[in-house]
Amino acid sequence: MIAHGASASSGFFWLNAAEMQIDVLAPGWDGAASTENGRIDTLWMAEAGVVDAFFFVGSEPKDVIKQYISVTGTPSMPQQFAVAYHQCRWNYRDEEDVAGVDAGFDEHDIPYDVLWLDIEHTDGKRYFTWDRSTFPNPEEMQRKIADKGRKMVTIVDPHMKRDSGYHIHEEATAKGYYVKDASGKDYDGWCWPGSSSYPDMLNPEIRDWWADKFSYQNYKGSTPTLYIWNDMNEPSVFNGPEVTMPRDALHNGDVEHRELHNAYGYYFHMATSDGLLKRGEGKDRPFVLSRAFFAGSQRYGAVWTGDNTADWDHLKSSIPMVLTLGLTGMTFSGADVGGFFGNPEPDLLVRWYQVGAFYPFFRGHAHHDTKRREPWLFGERRTALMREAIHMRYSLLPYYYTLFQEASVTGVPVMRPLWLEFPDDKETYNNGEAFMVGPSILAQGIYEEKSVSVYLPGTELWYDLRNGSPYKGSVSHKLQVSEDSIPSFQRSGTIVPRKDRFRRSSTQMVNDPYTLVIALNSSGSAEGELYVDDGKSYDYQQGAFIHRRFVFADNKLTSINIAPDSLGKKVYSIECVIERIIVLGLSSGAKKAIIEPGNQEVEIDLGPISLRSGSKSVAPTVRRPNVRVVDDWTIRIA
Ligand code: NOJ
Repeated sequence: MIAHGASASSGFFWLNAAEMQIDVLAPGWDGAASTENGRIDTLWMAEAGVVDAFFFVGSEPKDVIKQYISVTGTPSMPQQFAVAYHQCRWNYRDEEDVAGVDAGFDEHDIPYDVLWLDIEHTDGKRYFTWDRSTFPNPEEMQRKIADKGRKMVTIVDPHMKRDSGYHIHEEATAKGYYVKDASGKDYDGWCWPGSSSYPDMLNPEIRDWWADKFSYQNYKGSTPTLYIWNDMNEPSVFNGPEVTMPRDALHNGDVEHRELHNAYGYYFHMATSDGLLKRGEGKDRPFVLSRAFFAGSQRYGAVWTGDNTADWDHLKSSIPMVLTLGLTGMTFSGADVGGFFGNPEPDLLVRWYQVGAFYPFFRGHAHHDTKRREPWLFGERRTALMREAIHMRYSLLPYYYTLFQEASVTGVPVMRPLWLEFPDDKETYNNGEAFMVGPSILAQGIYEEKSVSVYLPGTELWYDLRNGSPYKGSVSHKLQVSEDSIPSFQRSGTIVPRKDRFRRSSTQMVNDPYTLVIALNSSGSAEGELYVDDGKSYDYQQGAFIHRRFVFADNKLTSINIAPDSLGKKVYSIECVIERIIVLGLSSGAKKAIIEPGNQEVEIDLGPISLRSGSKSVAPTVRRPNVRVVDDWTIRIA
């Protein structure tokens, strides 16, 4: 629980994985005690376990988050590709389907990074196997996708088919690795494969065994560009008393399931993530998406909000859900774009892309009973709108990656409620529709409205991301809804790094030049950061990264190295330059800039603010300064 008022913030964390109920005795609640002075009591009850609790206090909510993270662990740093767009469906049927979808993105000039395979790719829901009639050559399929810098993900669930011909089941049975029922026999529950048993992930020896299943040798048909999706790991049991395991099922050390239910999925995620780490000999960062999670799951990968429905309400509620996850450390999260169940009306699908493009985890997904909905299936105009939403995300990837790095150190989430950035502004406290991406960008979802009221906090101006129009802070702006995008703004006083050349995948953007977008505040200054590493390995832990702070003040932009020297055993360097600097709020009289060192003069003229096709909005732009991001330099507006 995190609580925030204008003068202080606090948090309470009860480390207990049993069933828990928390009553928030807010006004309107039956049992509400006094709410005098704005005080709200909460009542906590758990079925089992001990009271192992933590209080956190601070002058602002980021203090509370940092303390909570110091207890439960920092979010892992994702690979670069994982922060880009993912395309999923239950199911891409066969290798031809996969090739067709992959080619569809290229034909329609839409970037994507990861293609996902749901449960039907397996041989009868036996995970770590392939249905060879539909996927005869999985390695070759992955290699073709990888040739374009893309990856694949397959699903691996915890329910093991009770089939004597299935090697994993045979081994788990022989070694006694399954969760037991109350009578001590292997627990037998019903899930996708039919009769199934569940490895006891609470036992470290079993987690090790599980992790080994991801080696290239054990997981036949897997390659280094294949990553994993853990689903149904609550664990979901169709015929279980509460659609999960009975409370009296027995785990390692004869501990009842009731004691640890909420941690099962966490340990499953941990073991899978360790498996990917082991398979790559500890060199590459794993990517594992998990449906079930617990305090600390942020260390093992991404999570999503589960099975939503293709309706406007579910689009709307995805925002408070992702924001709440972020506050609990689970910053790498998102909702199924388009809605899992049902067929989204095309306008809803477009809006979902426009909102989803801001989620930290951005994946389109759909149930097998729904119609196909790859982003080019709804006519040219809508294809263009979805393309633009995805392009927007790709151009902001340097900014997102920098935010993930911040989250990996402090736990402060990528996507933030407004009050995290504006803790003194009471107008923001109940706003669950608008959100911040990092400190610099504010966006607000659009649902069915024709006009929308957007509250912009703080006293400074905000600039529309698409056309640079300025809007006053501390004001609710009534805006006409545009089909082009959801309302989104850059806060003045900030600098956002972008990459504006569109490629097929994020991997192909590695050497592309940057654009910096500077939004000046009322004192003519701004600040921002850029973090870059190899996007893949752990070398950054030994200093192999670039971390710059850009400061604009007194008409001069300075790039400062903020990477600590102490880590410097390894080095990361790139030749990438900054090809364009857009300065929102600069007087259009400025005509040239001087770069130091070198005393080199470059032009300033009016350039496009966004690279949207047909965009006519312009702002003063420093043309081709071509300074390298690894270097120290200043650029003075003359
Ligand atoms: C349930 C998951 O939530 C959903 O995303 C998935 O498609 C199905 N299981 C099938 O694996």
